[in-house]
Amino acid sequence: MSHAEDHEGTRRDFLYYAVAGTGTVGASAAIWPLVNQMNPSADVKALSSIRVDISEIAPGTQLTVKWLGKPVFIRRRTEKEISEARAVELAELIDVSARNKNAPELDASDQNRAMDETGEWLVMMGVCTHLGCVPLGDGAGDFHGWFCPCHGSHYDTSGRIRKGPAPENLQVPVAKFVDSTTIKLG
Ligand code: FES
Repeated sequence: MSHAEDHEGTRRDFLYYAVAGTGTVGASAAIWPLVNQMNPSADVKALSSIRVDISEIAPGTQLTVKWLGKPVFIRRRTEKEISEARAVELAELIDVSARNKNAPELDASDQNRAMDETGEWLVMMGVCTHLGCVPLGDGAGDFHGWFCPCHGSHYDTSGRIRKGPAPENLQVPVAKFVDSTTIKLG
């Protein structure tokens, strides 16, 4: 293995440890659309995949990690949050697409957005689909999920847009379980 490959491998395997709070989220929302349009640099490519240790996330809380310059919410939902999300009919939704990079053709049923069959784990980009602000979590808003105070978008416990100007559900990124306590993004 060349030195370059070795370096890239080390970066790619960078492991996020569960750190309380949102201290890692510092990027300005305004620059994200611009960054999106640019070709990723070698450094960004090297971090295009990260692993997140979820072992310390308690039910009813969420960890926010920064990935590719954007916040990612990793929430361990309670039974109440799951049942609320699963009781919603598709006809009640503004956006009926799952917006899930792992299953882009599916509808917005909660089962098509959660990471696992029980629905305990929900992973989403923490970027409001209106103009890119970071929504508030922990049961915020009229639908007990996330609320974006910038212009008043309310997301439910599945991260689906229910009220306000945002046109789409919060996006679910490419993600999978590597083992029972580690999620790989990208
Ligand atoms: S950016 Fe979220 S409501 Fe406008």
